[in-house]
Amino acid sequence: MTNIRSVIRGTGSYLPDRILTNEDMSKIVDTTDDWIRERTGIQQRHIAADDQVTSDLAVKAAERALATAGISADQVDLIVLATTTPDQTFPATATAVQAKLGIQGGAAFDVQAVCSGFLFALTTADSILKNGLFKTALVIGAETFTRILDWSDRGTCVLFGDGAGAVVLTAETEAEAGERGVLTHYIRTDGAKSELLYVDGGVSSTGTIGHVRMIGNQVFKHAVANISSAIQAVYDETGLTSNSVDWFVPHQANQRILNAVAKRMSLDEGKVISTVALHGNTSAASIPLALDAGVSDGRIKPGHLILSEAMGGGFSWGASLFRL
Ligand code: UT7
Repeated sequence: MTNIRSVIRGTGSYLPDRILTNEDMSKIVDTTDDWIRERTGIQQRHIAADDQVTSDLAVKAAERALATAGISADQVDLIVLATTTPDQTFPATATAVQAKLGIQGGAAFDVQAVCSGFLFALTTADSILKNGLFKTALVIGAETFTRILDWSDRGTCVLFGDGAGAVVLTAETEAEAGERGVLTHYIRTDGAKSELLYVDGGVSSTGTIGHVRMIGNQVFKHAVANISSAIQAVYDETGLTSNSVDWFVPHQANQRILNAVAKRMSLDEGKVISTVALHGNTSAASIPLALDAGVSDGRIKPGHLILSEAMGGGFSWGASLFRL
C-alpha cells in the first residue's frame, strides 16, 4: 500500500475589525496597560461584530487558506473545525461553514479541546486523510471567545479575543509530498484538572452558556510543564531536536509562557512566531493565526520544519511537528 502523508498546502486567517486596546480594558475593569503587557505581552484583542458568528469568522479564514492553496471549495471533502464557542448547540459549526462555502458532500464536524483544539483537529484530520477516507481537508480553529467572558473579572477578560485561522490539508503520496507533510502529533488530556480552567455553565448542567473561570497562576505552571513534555515526546518520536526546528508556532496565550517553554526546550528566541500582542488568546484559532502570520510575512517558507504546541481547558495539551 502506498504511504499517504497529509500536507499543508495553504493557510489563512481572519481577525474581526473591532479592536479593544489595553487602555479600553482599563475603562471596563480595574487594570492597566502596564499590568497586561508585563504579565501577558497582550496589547489588544479583536471583538466579533454583533452580527458575526463563529462560522462567519471561520469562512473568511477558510476562503483565504483555499486561495493560497489554489484549491477550490468544491474539492474539499472534509472539514474539521475546532471551537469552544459554536454558533449553536447543534448542528456542528463545521456544517455551517460547509454550507456557507457551498460544499456538497463529504463530512464536516467540530472538535472541542478548547485552546488545544486546533492541534486535536489537525491530529484528527491527518489520521482520517492517512486512512484514505477523504482527500482534501479544511482544518479550522475559530472562536467568538469574548462571548463567554465575564466582563467584570479582570483575571480573565483582559486575556482573550476573537478570531479564526485555517489550513488546507491534502492527502498525498510520498512522491507528491516530497519532504513536506505532517510528521507526528502528541495529544493528551487530564480531566482531573478541569476545575482550574472551565466554563461555569452548559447545556445539561445549568442550561446556560456560562462564563470562563480560571486560576491563572496554576494553569501557567501546568502549561509550561505539560507543553515541554509534549514537545519532548514529538522529538523522541521523530529523533528531531530544537536545532532542527525552523519555526516554533505555539498557542498564543501569554508571552511569558512562550518564553518559558522556548527557554526550557532550548529554542532560539528568533525562531518563535508570536502574535499574542496583536490578538490575545484566541483559543483554538491562535495557532493557525500565528502560522498564517509567519507564512504571509515570508518568514515561514515551504519545506520549513514547524513545531507547534498548545495547552488549554480540560486540561488538554499537545504538540505537532510538520514540514510546511
Ligand atoms: O490558553 C489557555 C490556558 N491559559 C493560560 O495559559 C493562562 C495561564 N495563566 C496566565 O497567563 C497568568 O497566570 C495570568 C496572566 C492569568 C495572570 O498572571 P500572574 O502573573 O500569574 O498573576 P496572578 O494570577 O498570580 O495575580 C497577581 C496579581 C493578583 O493580585 P494580588 O493578589 O497579588 O494582589 C491579581 O488579583 O495580579 C492581580 N490581577 C490583575 N491586576 C491588574 C489579576 N488580573 C489583573 C489585571 N489587572 N487584569
